[in-house]
Amino acid sequence: MVMIHVIFLVLFLVQPLIDDRHHVVDALGCNWGRVSTHPLPADIVVRLLKDNGFEKVKLFEADPSALIALGKSGIQVMVGIPNDLLPSLASSVRVAEEWVVQNVSVYLSKYGVDIRYIAIGNEPFLESNRGVFNKVIFPALQNVQAAIIKAGLSRQVKLTVPFNANVYQTENGLPSGGNFRSDVLTVVSSIVAFLHDNGGFLTINIYPFLSLHADPNFPLTYAFFDGGTSAPVVDGSITYTNVFEANYDTFIFALEKNGFPTMSVVVGEIGWPTDGDPNANANYARHFNQGLLDRIIRKSGTPKRPNLPPDIYIFSLIDENAKSIEPGNFERHWGIFNYDGTIKYPLSFYNGRSLVAAKGVKYMEKQWCVLSPTASIADPNVPGSTQYACTYSDCTSLSYGSSCNGLDVRGNISYAFNQFYQTRNQQNGACGFGNLAKLTRTDPSQQTCRFEVMIDVGRRKKLKPSPFNPPSRRSGVGSSSIFSGTTAAVFFATMMVLFYCS
Ligand SMILES: *[C@@H]1O[C@H](CO)[C@@H](O)[C@H](O)[C@H]1NC(C)=O
Ligand SMILES: *[C@@H]1O[C@H](CO)[C@@H](O)[C@H](O)[C@H]1NC(C)=O
Repeated sequence: MVMIHVIFLVLFLVQPLIDDRHHVVDALGCNWGRVSTHPLPADIVVRLLKDNGFEKVKLFEADPSALIALGKSGIQVMVGIPNDLLPSLASSVRVAEEWVVQNVSVYLSKYGVDIRYIAIGNEPFLESNRGVFNKVIFPALQNVQAAIIKAGLSRQVKLTVPFNANVYQTENGLPSGGNFRSDVLTVVSSIVAFLHDNGGFLTINIYPFLSLHADPNFPLTYAFFDGGTSAPVVDGSITYTNVFEANYDTFIFALEKNGFPTMSVVVGEIGWPTDGDPNANANYARHFNQGLLDRIIRKSGTPKRPNLPPDIYIFSLIDENAKSIEPGNFERHWGIFNYDGTIKYPLSFYNGRSLVAAKGVKYMEKQWCVLSPTASIADPNVPGSTQYACTYSDCTSLSYGSSCNGLDVRGNISYAFNQFYQTRNQQNGACGFGNLAKLTRTDPSQQTCRFEVMIDVGRRKKLKPSPFNPPSRRSGVGSSSIFSGTTAAVFFATMMVLFYCS
């Protein structure tokens, strides 16, 4: 605490213009999404957060088990409101009041959850939302603010709206040319003004990986933080050597232009995925996230705000295998930990402390479902079976440039069968596929390709053999999350090509 006050004081002296009372400068935060078939138990996740020194966590919705587990943990919580609740929250203050009572007040008073922030919607102006939230986001924000005031929480709980980085743009390609996107300029300005007047703050999600993904000519070195890019961006007296700083400052310039030079801006999501794309691998992810952590540890700001390092929420803590893959196959692989809290790659935190894996995770039996050695890959049921398996489980690691892309045809089929079997909690009958499949006690994992055994979620006996898919909400980029079948379609197409060619 003393430390924090000292830092506050220094900041105020150096940059007295920034109104920043709620801002803890050295906090390390992360996003905790739960769009998984086998979510890690909440108490294990809270221990994982504490063991790794995360002081802040962001939830995409008021998930009761997550919130209860966070009670008295000392971790500060940002609770998200999913976009699909925005229309009803916008419709009446009563609805917002109920939301606050049920999803904030109760957790504060009854469970001792340190809820500090509420994120209204998530990336409402994302182009793929096609403007459906443009009319409801502002009234929803106003109503939740009114509800927070009525509940007597307005000193403790601050509001924000997480923006996707494309709410702003720059006409000349330089940060100094930044302004709000013209089609949302009015509504974004209203939101910013309202947050400003109510002591709220701004949140932006910045994804250098997506810049690289979207543009094959994007210079790889500009995505990282080494400072040694061959393609720096020179903007007046400032030289930008990484896209993160350029992107953040573009927003700061846009805010200045619209009359809000001192608003505090938090980074709500930033990270790098490890699978599902040729640029998504543990090596790049480690490189990016270590560079990011080093900035947080050094308290680095950006050229426009050198003395005000933003709060940063890493995206994400753990993988989520049931997220929509509309943005890409990488969408299920953003975790710095695997879905079960095991370590993907080394990272070094404050004082050189390394990552600590999740403790106390219970797994199902060490058994895997594979293509039977006696089955022929020319069997006419193979394509349909693999497609079925990949429709109801996650086969993104088989896609081009991914960790299991090096498997042979039999390996591909086995991988699909095993994903299905594990997702179905090793249920009797889930390793059948009309005699094509067989159980094995020998781990079929090869090189980078992990054949998973899932967490024991105690559903093994209870599950009915109906297609799985709990109703679950999105987190991060993307929309509602069910296995979309896109992976299955890709897989199926590849398999068909293989069959017709052989
Ligand atoms: C509380 O939040 C949950 C999760 O977002 C939501 O399903 C529920 O409707 C909310 N409760 C109220 C009263 O709005
Ligand atoms: C499966 O195996 C083939 C042949 O080795 C490989 O080319 C392909 O990319 C793999 N993945 C899928 C999804 O078929």
